[in-house]
Amino acid sequence: MKIAMVGSGYVGLVSGACLADFGHDVVCIDKDQSKIDRLLEGVMPIYEPGLDALVESNVKAGRLSFSTSLADGIAGAGAIFIAVGTPSRRGDGHADLSFVYAVAREIGQSLANDAVIVTKSTVPVGTGDEVERILAASGTPHRFSVVSNPEFLREGAAIGDFKRPDRIVIGAEDDFGREVMQEVYRPLFLNESPMLFVNRRSSELIKYAANAFLATKITFINEMADLCEKVGANVQDVARGIGMDNRIGSKFLHAGPGYGGSCFPKDTLALLKTAEDYESPVRIVEAVVKVNDSRKRAMGRKVLDALGGMDAARGKKVALLGLTFKPNTDDMRDSPAIAIAQSLIDAGVQVAAYDPEGMEQARPLMPDVTMTDSPYDAIEGADAIAIVTEWDAFRALDLNRVKELARAPVMVDLRNIYKPDDMRAAGFHYSSVGRD
Ligand code: UGA
Repeated sequence: MKIAMVGSGYVGLVSGACLADFGHDVVCIDKDQSKIDRLLEGVMPIYEPGLDALVESNVKAGRLSFSTSLADGIAGAGAIFIAVGTPSRRGDGHADLSFVYAVAREIGQSLANDAVIVTKSTVPVGTGDEVERILAASGTPHRFSVVSNPEFLREGAAIGDFKRPDRIVIGAEDDFGREVMQEVYRPLFLNESPMLFVNRRSSELIKYAANAFLATKITFINEMADLCEKVGANVQDVARGIGMDNRIGSKFLHAGPGYGGSCFPKDTLALLKTAEDYESPVRIVEAVVKVNDSRKRAMGRKVLDALGGMDAARGKKVALLGLTFKPNTDDMRDSPAIAIAQSLIDAGVQVAAYDPEGMEQARPLMPDVTMTDSPYDAIEGADAIAIVTEWDAFRALDLNRVKELARAPVMVDLRNIYKPDDMRAAGFHYSSVGRD
């Protein structure tokens, strides 16, 4: 089947390349000429493990192409995916749908055959109805159906998540929509990935409910971690102990500096906005957002405590290891590192940082932080080292070299990647999250 993917950002590009790999004929469309030019040269606009090779092999096989023209790209496509951004609207946290609606209008004007229009962008409940209205108002003579098909891709693991999903959610209102989507995902269905067919509004809400639930799980274990520190318990043991209960599940129970990224912060806020609009409060999610926001600066205070408190910290130097909101991405959006670095700088601390992929994105967001070429360069002369992101590169640091380079062997491990006993035996003043 010919498939058009409108929007060649993170979601569009990963989904387009994977669908091409299944054997479909995919055109990825983007208005940004320079992005398309770079893609044609094989340069990826984002860092995602395995994406460059996947794009290259499918371009070579003639299944994946790129275009800046929506009209050309959608001609002959049986499924047209909308995968453009839905950023938080400034001021009210509502998802900004102007890009989605603009694309819907353009599709309406250019549609040259019957097609299913699929919203893959994360969109609030009711957006599919509006897309349908826009297409109907365009007066297109062709048959169309508007379907919701949210993505559940994790940055850094997106290709695996697309090809081996826990489930595929499809919100369709008619047989045309359902049948075309079945054809799109047939290769996955043969691999026994369950396809869940629901109505469009349920599908739109599933996406937000899933992200809000995961954000809640993380925030819950983060607060348990604080309690563990007070009562002398170990949060990793607590997480294991509750996670072995299948009703709870062991995933997303890693305590840390708070969730960040392009999805959880934005989607929890958008869900709150929907709940407010429909006068159906989701108080748990309200609390999650507040707790997570305050946690980021609280982690800065934890580092200051390790330096001996606010007064003692002034003029000292901290090495931040890891800046991105999680490993295997260069994404800095809403990363806890930003608030942590700022709270240290506000306290008169000098901050040097190293991140394997994120420094280019981080620079403009953290102008007062000195970026270095390696973890050891950041550590040189530091009075404390804080691990903010659990990159593999930080899991086996040469601890003797670290001790030699640092001014003091103080480590604050905000991702719990080292064992407290080992670190103490190695001569570190070591603190972590929710453990002795
Ligand atoms: C998240 C969801 O996991 C995806 O299913 C979803 O498709 C995506 O949002 C989206 O809406 O597009 P992502 O933001 O890439 O994916 O990253 P996650 O791996 O979910 O991590 C989010 C944040 O939670 C990170 O800051 C991470 O460090 C933190 N986290 C995660 C924890 O602190 N503890 C955990 O146990 C898990």
